[in-house]
Amino acid sequence: MGFYNLKQYNKVVRLVYGKSFYKFQAEVINNEIGKEVLVVGPGNGGIISLLKEDRNYCLVEKSEVFSRQLKNLTQHKKEFQIINEDFFSWKPHQKFDLVVFPFFLDLFTRKEQQNIFHKTFKMLNDDGKVLIIDFEPPKSFLERIHIKLLYLLFRSLDGITGEEIICPKSLNTEVLDSIEGLKSPFFRIKAYRVQPPKP
Ligand SMILES: C[S@@+](CC[C@H](N)C(=O)[O-])C[C@H]1O[C@@H](n2cnc3c(N)ncnc32)[C@H](O)[C@@H]1O
Repeated sequence: MGFYNLKQYNKVVRLVYGKSFYKFQAEVINNEIGKEVLVVGPGNGGIISLLKEDRNYCLVEKSEVFSRQLKNLTQHKKEFQIINEDFFSWKPHQKFDLVVFPFFLDLFTRKEQQNIFHKTFKMLNDDGKVLIIDFEPPKSFLERIHIKLLYLLFRSLDGITGEEIICPKSLNTEVLDSIEGLKSPFFRIKAYRVQPPKP
């Protein structure tokens, strides 16, 4: 079995978050500057058809099932390179202008998130940026319920170590700004632009 069950995953995303989920992700990526873009954990590839085709995208995905789907979706798109590897052990052969983590970092503990950032900052070009697209840490009762259910679902699909929604300010990074995304009584989505800490 892959990291996720593709059908189950697609159904959940469509039902709970709707089409705007990928529209928002693609919009914020499209608005960033940079020719070489890395997307970590792209999942089922819901954003692919919405991305501008004037740059190169490298998609690193651990799940075999998702990677196969990504390869199918991009077989006629020369801008896309699909890498079926674990981000932690993957050795990049190039540097990037933009690294995107779409709903990825929450799967990991704070320590693992710090390791991810440490690795990421080394693969950025000068002035390279990191974009985190994710749920905001829950505040209301309904938001807490949503996040609890989400973690229950993820744990039932495969083992994950994370326990809470990413809070970029708690990491050793500089948050440049953030963009408000989808909102519902159950969740708020945000994109954070982050750059490496000044030496
Ligand atoms: C919560 S899903 C988000 C998927 C997609 N970005 C979206 O917005 O629907 C996290 C994704 O990260 C992938 N993933 C988990 N651990 C990974 C790792 N160590 N390296 C690369 N991808 C990983 C999973 O297979 C999954 O596709």
